Amino acid sequence: MADEQTVMEQIGKDGIAAMVAAFYRRVRHDDVIGPMYPDDDWEGSEERLCDFLWFRIGQDPTYILKRGHPRLRMRHMPFRIDVLARDRWIALMAAAMDETAVHGPAREWLDGFFFQIADFMRNQPETAAEIEQN
Ligand code: HEM
Repeated sequence: MADEQTVMEQIGKDGIAAMVAAFYRRVRHDDVIGPMYPDDDWEGSEERLCDFLWFRIGQDPTYILKRGHPRLRMRHMPFRIDVLARDRWIALMAAAMDETAVHGPAREWLDGFFFQIADFMRNQPETAAEIEQN
């Protein structure tokens, strides 16, 4: 069963950095999620996601030292994240992983990991049941 260690062994810190760079090259020009990001801080966005993944996958404490507890759901509340935005984020990351040749067990683990977090970031009700709860 693939896990965080599998990802570090297979692609390592440099592989994660290359994947994140390929992801933001796409996000910048994306019509759905691109406009949510500050247009003058793409390097900062890249650094924050990279640090977060190095922390979450490789136990590197840099993210925590710079940003504190991740609190990702709270930090994404200012943005309107619906199924369309979630699926776009995931599609751009999948294209970035294809470009940087993230395959095999690391890819399987990352696909599940990214879906889980992206789905958790949703903050717009989509179904009748969800709308009733809100
Ligand atoms: C579901 C669709 C998503 C959208 C539309 C989205 C959008 C954004 C935006 C607009 C920002 C603020 C700009 C920035 O700090 O770069 C941000 C920050 C961030 N996002 Fe996402 N995001 C999504 C999913 C994810 C996922 C799946 C992850 C992790 C795997 C993630 C990790 C982060 C991190 C670490 C930050 C920086 C938090 C901080 O330290 O301030 N995001 N995101």
